[in-house]
Amino acid sequence: MNRYAHVTGWGMAVPDRVLTNQELSRLVDTNDDWIVSRTGIRERRIAQKGESTATLAARAALRALARTDLRPTDIQMIIVATASPEHIFPATACIVQDTLGATNAAAFDLSAACTGFIYGLSLASHSIRAGAIENAIVIGAETLSRLINWEDRSTCILFGDGAGAFVLQASHDPGGFLASVLHADGSGSNLLTIPAGGSRMPASLETVHKNLHTIQMNGREIFRFATRVMASSTREVLTRSGIELDDVELVIPHQANRRIIEAAARSLRLPMERFMVNIERYGNTSSASIPIAACEAIEQGRIRPGDHVVLVAFGAGLTYGALVLEWVSTERPIPPARRGIQRLFTFMGRVRSLLRRFWRHIEGLIWGTKSHKKR
Ligand code: ACO
Repeated sequence: MNRYAHVTGWGMAVPDRVLTNQELSRLVDTNDDWIVSRTGIRERRIAQKGESTATLAARAALRALARTDLRPTDIQMIIVATASPEHIFPATACIVQDTLGATNAAAFDLSAACTGFIYGLSLASHSIRAGAIENAIVIGAETLSRLINWEDRSTCILFGDGAGAFVLQASHDPGGFLASVLHADGSGSNLLTIPAGGSRMPASLETVHKNLHTIQMNGREIFRFATRVMASSTREVLTRSGIELDDVELVIPHQANRRIIEAAARSLRLPMERFMVNIERYGNTSSASIPIAACEAIEQGRIRPGDHVVLVAFGAGLTYGALVLEWVSTERPIPPARRGIQRLFTFMGRVRSLLRRFWRHIEGLIWGTKSHKKR
């Protein structure tokens, strides 16, 4: 019997703090007209104290989970696609796993920049279709505002913070994930990078003074690359899935620049109405941009059961790719009882986590916390 991977839950979380173009024009030499005409961005969300990639990711995942009939313990895989992880290690996904109380889930981060959500969705869907797992959560989450040089007008106007999540479930009914194409071109790895803080250039006073822990980008090169691969990846994934362009109800592109999306639409000869665009309110939220746009498209009734939806992205790496979904779920209110049960499970997961930390502390007192030295 064939197995399929259906998207059954979706959720998003963005910080409350809105940073407008007008406010930015007081920080750097820019203005609203320039930003809107060159990018389509009017405002973006910025994480505040207490908010981080993991907290936004967990909020989005809990909202996605609340739409399903799953308990956190039913999840077997959590992937957090992010370019702004909580730490180099541990993985942000492990922190999310602990917050959700998803105690049976493998958890890892995926580094493919803005294409990360498509990479993650593809990986989880294939794992479900192969029969390795039943349920997964894929999250795209970013706090790129923490990695921006706020004196560099060519990058600080572009990025914003947020998270979006999909729950994937195994099913014998056709639909859900149909096909994906994933690509990388490492020859362009220097075009968009945070040079320092890794093993190649560890943190030092010099790297901090030279601002090497912030995003450095060759905007024009990325722009040219993006306009090429957005259309070619869409065509390629449609050929692979056997779906005609005319049968695609909605394209959800990575929200990097409205002009890039318009160029893709022109190249594909599709009207802009067939593209989901919300860049004006969130800016470029990297791996979170597609799931956030998807959540808003569902809320606006732009995705209905039976629709074919293309997700397409490009990003640092350089990475690029596309994915086709046949939508199967309907937007319906979440019963309060279900929210209650899930909150209870999450609460129990937190209690369990605290007990484990406490037990580790006790073991440390009994056995000592230092490793044994050879005499
Ligand atoms: N305000 C006013 N002027 C500006 C600003 C600004 N914020 N930024 C640059 N300029 C100036 C430049 O200095 C330049 O002036 P000059 O002609 O006197 O030298 C002029 O505007 C034009 O600059 P360009 O870089 O040619 O502007 P362009 O039209 O290419 O737009 C942009 C720049 C918006 C960055 C565009 O190149 C772009 O969107 N590129 C793609 C970036 C992208 O998508 N990155 C994310 C990838 S996803 C990921 O993995 C995170």
